[in-house]
Amino acid sequence: MNHDDLPSDLVGCLRSASRVAVLTGAGVSAESGIPTFRDAQTGLWAKHDPMQLASPEGFDADPGLVWDWYQWRRKLIAESNPNAGHFALAEMAQHFDGFVLVTQNVDGFHQLAGSEGVLELHGNIQRSVCSKTRKLIEPDWLARHADARPPPSPHHAQGLARPDVVWFGEALPEATLDAAFSAAGECDLMIVAGTAGAVQPAASLPFVARESGARVLGINPETTGISRIAEWHLAGPGATWLPALARVMSNT
Ligand code: OAD
Repeated sequence: MNHDDLPSDLVGCLRSASRVAVLTGAGVSAESGIPTFRDAQTGLWAKHDPMQLASPEGFDADPGLVWDWYQWRRKLIAESNPNAGHFALAEMAQHFDGFVLVTQNVDGFHQLAGSEGVLELHGNIQRSVCSKTRKLIEPDWLARHADARPPPSPHHAQGLARPDVVWFGEALPEATLDAAFSAAGECDLMIVAGTAGAVQPAASLPFVARESGARVLGINPETTGISRIAEWHLAGPGATWLPALARVMSNT
């Protein structure tokens, strides 16, 4: 794929944009081998009950089951690598006056690929926190209590280690969310890649950008609720289209 395959008005927009905001979702890690949530057949929520594995109630009901599931996902992520889409976004950042990367992903692949200042709306799966106090639990402590599923918390007698991710019914980190909405409201172009746009408040960001006058580009093999406000929809994988965008910028 080269930039000749991109619509010429999109190429023009990329070259003239000063502030770019990007919203990514599970689809950008699909080509790293990490399953998405809502794809039929292969999506995690097609096989598992999200309320059992990704809610405070589910954790209270069976902390061992939830811990084991996150340990399985951590292992999968540890054995996988960022793909060309992640690297392209890190590369693109240097070509704009403002470039804010907002992700719903908890895998940390954007940072591994070299992106800085990533706004992680849903936390990061590699960290663990106390279920009662939400204080960070150091890896050393977790290693010393690795036989427990989950390990106890050093911060609270009734606390347990849990992943530092946002579960259904929980609030997103406030400062991160504020920064994401500011970026959406101030950008010239918003790129939305690999998200079904089914989970709020992240799904509102492209709409805020559009209402504030930004142009919106969607990248997804499927059409989503976001496609209808996107001026351009690049149908296909992020690992193909994001490098094509980066090549436009490096040839500018
Ligand atoms: P979803 O699984 O809901 O959506 C993934 C999207 O990626 C779909 O629209 C796919 O069509 C698209 N997709 C699949 N393969 C792709 C590829 N190779 N390149 C680009 N796109 C591709 O994932 P999210 O929208 O990220 O929250 O889900 C949002 C949140 O819902 C997640 O952060 C998670 C989940 O419940 C929590 O765990 C709190």
